[in-house]
Amino acid sequence: MPTLSKMTCVEDFRVLARRRVPRMFYDYADSGSWTEGTYRSNEKDFQQLKFRQRVAVNIEHRSVRSTMLGAEVAMPVAIAPTGLTGMQHADGEILGAKAAERFGIPFTLSTMSICSIEDIAAHTTQPFWFQLYVMRDRDFIGRLIDRAKAARCSALMVTLDLQVLGQRHKDIKNGLSTPPKPTLLNLLNLATKPRWCLSMLGTSHRSFGNIVGHAKGVGDLSSLASWTAEQFDPSLSWDDLEWIKKRWGGKIILKGIMDAQDARRAVDAGADALIVSNHGGRQLDGAPSAISALPQIAQAVGRHIEVLMDGGIRSGQDILKAVALGAHGTLIGRSFLYALGAMGEAGVTRCLQLMANELDVSMAFCGRTRIQDVDRSILLNAGLYD
Ligand SMILES: Cc1cc2nc3c(=O)[nH]c(=O)nc-3n(C[C@H](O)[C@H](O)[C@H](O)COP(=O)(O)O)c2cc1C
Repeated sequence: MPTLSKMTCVEDFRVLARRRVPRMFYDYADSGSWTEGTYRSNEKDFQQLKFRQRVAVNIEHRSVRSTMLGAEVAMPVAIAPTGLTGMQHADGEILGAKAAERFGIPFTLSTMSICSIEDIAAHTTQPFWFQLYVMRDRDFIGRLIDRAKAARCSALMVTLDLQVLGQRHKDIKNGLSTPPKPTLLNLLNLATKPRWCLSMLGTSHRSFGNIVGHAKGVGDLSSLASWTAEQFDPSLSWDDLEWIKKRWGGKIILKGIMDAQDARRAVDAGADALIVSNHGGRQLDGAPSAISALPQIAQAVGRHIEVLMDGGIRSGQDILKAVALGAHGTLIGRSFLYALGAMGEAGVTRCLQLMANELDVSMAFCGRTRIQDVDRSILLNAGLYD
């Protein structure tokens, strides 16, 4: 029986999540689009970067505390928005938000979450971030923004890289749809996950909480299927950001930027932060890894806007490398999901502790005592992705 204290890295959580989470939902998290080349390179390209070890520097007093969008954070990490998180673990978004709040980092709720904006607000005291997919039904989007405002969310994260969907082979093969297809294989697989089934029976959160009952014509799971299929909006453009910004009236983060020219547009659009992200390798397969796209973007706009990044972060060392290459902060998607699926809230807390500790100690090995003092010079080959 795995215990928390025996979990020592994200890989431990991944292996356990694979055992505990029904296959279709585990695969949904642990997959990328088409060949999964970009998904793999997100992780692999971190490995190419090498630290410059320093010795005999006084590293007694250290801190990895930082800020993200002006608020203090325990380390430069936020939890990324992930759809269907309440299917990795019952009440997954509530548990993730609680763990993040206790740890002192931001939690982002996805538009496609199972628990709703109001559910998260009811179970937390600190403001969280809300991620917006811009759908064709702009009335619904307007009301969604108003709900995030009413819940006192401290930032609106607008995702720009999902106007069309990258194909994920596993989701099709597993029959992952809304509602999921009750194939014989799926039912047999469910029978091997009694812990998950029991906990799901104990919650009322089993559908898309931000959408069902709020979008016109979506009252149940079957009407949701056709609604989502036609709602992602390929006509989304920079012009739309103007009314979104006006309606929201608070801090805006633009997610999914992979190009320096687009990064400059994000600055012009008046965003407070951008996220260098290829959606965790789930959208344009064949795009470069997020860490390799980071330096150019940070150099182009880092003085004008807070540059964040996500994709492939599985350890404190990965966080350190991203900060060294110009990220003011980072986000974690799968590392969070694996920990949640494996061990719920306690798993997420343990995972954050492990990452923070590795970040702190690795920073010390590089002869730095404050995360703010970390720059390219802690890497031997910092120019690798210039
Ligand atoms: C299962 C899953 C669901 C996701 N759902 C969303 C989403 O609803 N909205 C969004 O903006 N990004 C979504 N993403 C992308 C993440 O926000 C983030 O960019 C990505 O997970 C970072 O890569 P990592 O998983 O390697 O950390 C999702 C990612 C995963 C793995």
